[in-house]
Order: sequence, then structure tokens, then C-alpha cells
Amino acid sequence: MQVTIIGTGYVGLVSGACIADFGHQVTCVDKDSTKISTLNAGEIPIFEPGLGDIVRSNLKQGRLVFTTALGEAVRGADAVFIAVGTPSRRGDGHADLSHVYQVAREIATALEGFTIVVTKSTVPVGTGDEVERIIRELRQDADFAVVSNPEFLREGAAIHDFKHPDRIVIGTDDEHAKKVAAEIYRPLYLNQAPIHYTSRRTAELIKYAANAFLATKITFINEIADLCERVGADVQEVARGIGFDNRIGPKFLHAGPGFGGSCLPKDVRALIKTAQDHRLPECCAARRLRSWVSPSSLTPTTCARRRLFH
Ligand SMILES: NC(=O)c1ccc[n+]([C@@H]2O[C@H](COP(=O)([O-])OP(=O)(O)OC[C@H]3O[C@@H](n4cnc5c(N)ncnc54)[C@H](O)[C@@H]3O)[C@@H](O)[C@H]2O)c1
Repeated sequence: MQVTIIGTGYVGLVSGACIADFGHQVTCVDKDSTKISTLNAGEIPIFEPGLGDIVRSNLKQGRLVFTTALGEAVRGADAVFIAVGTPSRRGDGHADLSHVYQVAREIATALEGFTIVVTKSTVPVGTGDEVERIIRELRQDADFAVVSNPEFLREGAAIHDFKHPDRIVIGTDDEHAKKVAAEIYRPLYLNQAPIHYTSRRTAELIKYAANAFLATKITFINEIADLCERVGADVQEVARGIGFDNRIGPKFLHAGPGFGGSCLPKDVRALIKTAQDHRLPECCAARRLRSWVSPSSLTPTTCARRRLFH
């Protein structure tokens, strides 16, 4: 398969390197020419265990190419992944989709033959519809399908997570697109990774629901920690005690400074905005989490504990 990845950041670079390692021909595109030169020299701009070896070995075998020439990379590709950033939009906290839509416009002009356009960036429900509309408006003749394939890797364990995923989510109703996506991920499927086929909108929401649920677990155990401090209980033992329960599980139950990182806060904000846009402003899970992304609402105990863990 000829695969093109647009956006060679954390997700794009890891995905591109691993997909090349599966045996596909991969071209990674970025508008940052310094990053592309660095990568072509076999140097890795981020720290991620194991990534350098995979990139260098696939560069050497000619399966991985880095370029700034988007049009050339898209022409003739079987699949074009969009892996650009979707930061919080200033003002309302929704996901800023300007990079995604810009890339959609650039892809449209270069499409050739049947191509799946895959959103790997974390994007709100309905973004795939808009990407499809943008491409169709610019290229009535194009033969393409827009697929949602959210990424769940963790920074620091990205290679392991990409190659041993808990699941691969493929959101599309197009049978031909399903076959192309399945072929790309075939080595993982052979390795028993479950492929979860859904509609595009469902796949988009799965990513936000997963991150909001993880943020909820962290938030929940932090609130139990507040209570432990008041009543003289040990929150670590409480977390262990409930984590033994298979219905709950031990992960994301470490009391600490609250959730952070490059994804959870922005994705929770974007989910809250989606709920508001669909007239569910009082959606209780979102409301509870909102108090944890807005520092003004922290209780004194929580503030103290957060300072302790920072
Ligand atoms: N980082 C993570 O752990 C993680 C995990 C899962 C999902 N995600 C999601 O994946 C997406 C990408 O995240 P990231 O951390 O890789 O972002 P990043 O900021 O590290 O990388 C984005 C890259 O896209 C490039 N880019 C932007 N516009 C472009 C354009 N028009 N043409 C070519 N290149 C362009 C940028 O130069 C940059 O190198 C986001 O939606 C994020 O929420 C991230």
C-alpha cells in the first residue's frame, strides 16, 4: 500500500514509522522544512524510546520518505492520513480545526485514483462530514472516502501502543475504504488486535469519550483523596482496593495533581463544547469535569494537594 501521512508530529511520525515497518511504502509530509531535513538525516526531533531505530531502518530500506511536497505525496496514494494538531480554539475551548481543513483543501487538488482520506487527528463529531464536503466542493470528479481512525497512543510508550493497540477503530460505511484500512493494519489484526468498525461519527466520538472517561477516573480518585484527608483514610489503599475490581481496573487511579498533558484538557474542553452545541449543557459528566479544567473552582484542599504533587 502507498500511504501518505500529513503532519509529522508526535502522532504522524510514530504512525508513519510503524506503518512503514509493517511493510507499506510511506511518505510523511510536514510544512516545517527544518523538521523534514532533520528526519531525512535520520535524527528524531522528539524523544520516544525505539522510534529512532525504526525510522532509520525504514529510511535505509527506502520504505519511509520525508518531504514538504504535499501534492506529490498525495498523488497515487491509497491512503492519506491527516495527523495535524487540533489545539483548543481561543475563546470557546472547541478544537481548532483550521489545520485539518487547510490540509483537506490541499489534499483535494492532488487526489488521483481511489484514495481513503483518514482523520487520525482528534476531531469533534461531524469533522469527517466537513472534510468530505471541502474535498467534494473542490474536486467533483475525485474518487475518495473519508474515514475516522482515532489514535490512542501514549507519549513515552508510543511505539508499543501503536504496535500493540487495545483496539483499532475504523469509522466508515464505505466497504472499499474498510478493505484498504484493514490491509494497512493487517499485521496488527494478525497479531490479534481487535478492529472495531463503526460509523464515522461514532469513531470520532469514541476518542473523546475515551479521554473524558480517563479524565473522570483521575478526577474521581482526586476527590476521594480530598475525602481521605478529611477522614484519615489512605487514598492509595482505597485506589488499590477498588482497582482489584475488574469492572473498575487499577489504571488512572493515582491521586495527584489532576489530569494534564497535551490531550486530556483540550479534549475534555472540546467534548464539553460539543455537548453545549447539541443543547446538553448540563450533561453531568462534562459539568463535573469542567470544574477540573477551570482552576478558579478548585477547593483549598485540592489546591494544596496539587501544589504538593507539582
Ligand atoms: N500527542 C499525543 O499523545 C496524541 C495521542 C493521540 C492523539 N493525538 C492527536 O493527534 C493529533 C496530532 O497531535 P501531535 O501531538 O502529533 O501534534 P504535533 O503538534 O506534534 O504535530 C502536528 C504536525 O503537523 C504539522 N502541520 C500542521 N499543519 C500542516 C500542514 N498544513 N501541512 C503539513 N504539516 C502540517 C506541524 O508542522 C506539526 O509538525 C492531534 O489532533 C492530537 O490531539 C495526539
